[in-house]
Amino acid sequence: MHHSRCSRAHVARCLLAALACVAGVVHADPVTAWSDAERSLLQLLWIGNLPPLPPSPGNRHADETDAAVLGHRLFFDRRLSVNGEVSCATCHVPDLFFADGLPRGRGIGETARNTPGIVGGAYSPWLFWDGRRDSLWSQALVPLETAEEHGGNRSRYARILVSDPVYRSIYNSVFGGLPDLSDTARFPPDASPFATGKARDDWLAMREDDRKSVNRVFANLGKALEAYQRRLVPGRSRFDDFVESLLDDRPSDALSADEIAGLKLFIGRAKCVTCHLGPLFTNHAFHNVATPDPSARKPDYLPGIVYLFMDKPDPDRGRYDGVRQALESEFNCLGEYSDAQPSDCAELSFAATDHRTTLGAFKVPSLRNVSRTAPYTHAGVFATLGEVLDHYNEPPDAPVGHSELQPLHLDERELAQLEAFLHSLDSTADAPAELLESPFQ
Ligand code: HEC
Ligand code: HEC
Repeated sequence: MHHSRCSRAHVARCLLAALACVAGVVHADPVTAWSDAERSLLQLLWIGNLPPLPPSPGNRHADETDAAVLGHRLFFDRRLSVNGEVSCATCHVPDLFFADGLPRGRGIGETARNTPGIVGGAYSPWLFWDGRRDSLWSQALVPLETAEEHGGNRSRYARILVSDPVYRSIYNSVFGGLPDLSDTARFPPDASPFATGKARDDWLAMREDDRKSVNRVFANLGKALEAYQRRLVPGRSRFDDFVESLLDDRPSDALSADEIAGLKLFIGRAKCVTCHLGPLFTNHAFHNVATPDPSARKPDYLPGIVYLFMDKPDPDRGRYDGVRQALESEFNCLGEYSDAQPSDCAELSFAATDHRTTLGAFKVPSLRNVSRTAPYTHAGVFATLGEVLDHYNEPPDAPVGHSELQPLHLDERELAQLEAFLHSLDSTADAPAELLESPFQ
């Protein structure tokens, strides 16, 4: 039979491998031998290197169990929406790794961007693809008042917390001081600075300190949601088992030969670790990787000449706008509703605002569980990992700002290996099972 025939080259390889073993090298095969530099990189990517959760200085209740219990309920509560049908879990679906499988998120309407997973989000100093919020608690307040998402307003939500006996009791034990909102002349049922029409007028007509009472309840709602989300951290994957064995000099069959070759490329020639570094496979920074802008695409039915002279929507400028919005938000680390000292807000105080680095830059997403959260990028423009990798292999010009990518010149086999490796990052969230489902069922 074919494999029983030992060619001369094969004998030579066996001999070399045996010699290498004698010399104390575990594997002589170039695919499985790792240099010291490679081992250091692997250790940086290993989940064992994940530090304890960073503090959330703006939220002194971030790690309290009762706050997380309240946040867990709020996350799944569809009453927190204009039509009683949308909750955070509508788009961040636990069974879909807290994403939704859609190009762009869908609540009351369609959002402009792709829904990211939120497991491990507590490690991120900036939230959203453009980092326009600097904490999980202030992030949560945005979808609640966005027309395409929950579509409601802060006065309505404050009223739900006051009128639901379970919420009222947990709220008072965690935060204390739930205000009396029963006087509808002072506290209109629907009012917010971001609303339109009557709800906006009603907000502007409110007394300054009444507005502040509502804002405080609203901020605390976000703080409870943060306490829940902080408990969702990624679990161990086959990749982590592999690295752990390697660091202990134990043999491992956790990864296939193709996955190992893909990992070599990931930390080597494909330069992925320039940005996807650290135990969450992100440096938590913003980079321009020339993602196509779907709004700038010519619809098929339009002749090119017509499209050329048409008014086109502004391209998504990403971090360029996001950093300004984070600095302006009344719910940021330095704001009135934050529990932080100004000295705790270094991230916000020293945020890079230079347009050469922010224009067209987006947050580097974690790659843990990436095989399960298609479609990809802030714009949801790639349906598969294969499409993402083709983009990195032959990057186009950036639609706005300057791309940081260079062509990689990988062949089909190498691209397939890289993709195989990304699948080895699959894992389940490291959280009690009851936190991964609705508390209302
Ligand atoms: C209609 C769908 C939808 C709903 C509802 C929704 N989200 Fe999101 N979520 C998104 C989209 C889309 C983004 C990215 C938007 C952007 O970057 O501009 C996002 C971003 C996030 C992020 C940032 C993740 C990161 O790493 O930057 C967090 C955290 C988050 N949402 C939590 C929540 C919470 C909590 C709620 C409920 C209060 C919620 N979301 C409701 C679609 C939704
Ligand atoms: C210059 C920094 C940089 C490099 C190098 C880089 N990435 Fe990324 N990656 C990003 C950014 C930024 C995004 C988000 C882009 C966006 O939303 O438009 C991203 C998105 C992705 C996504 C989509 C994830 C999701 O959830 O949508 C995948 C997959 C990915 N990168 C894999 C890789 C691989 C594999 C390599 C190496 C071939 C690589 N990246 C190299 C910065 C980088």
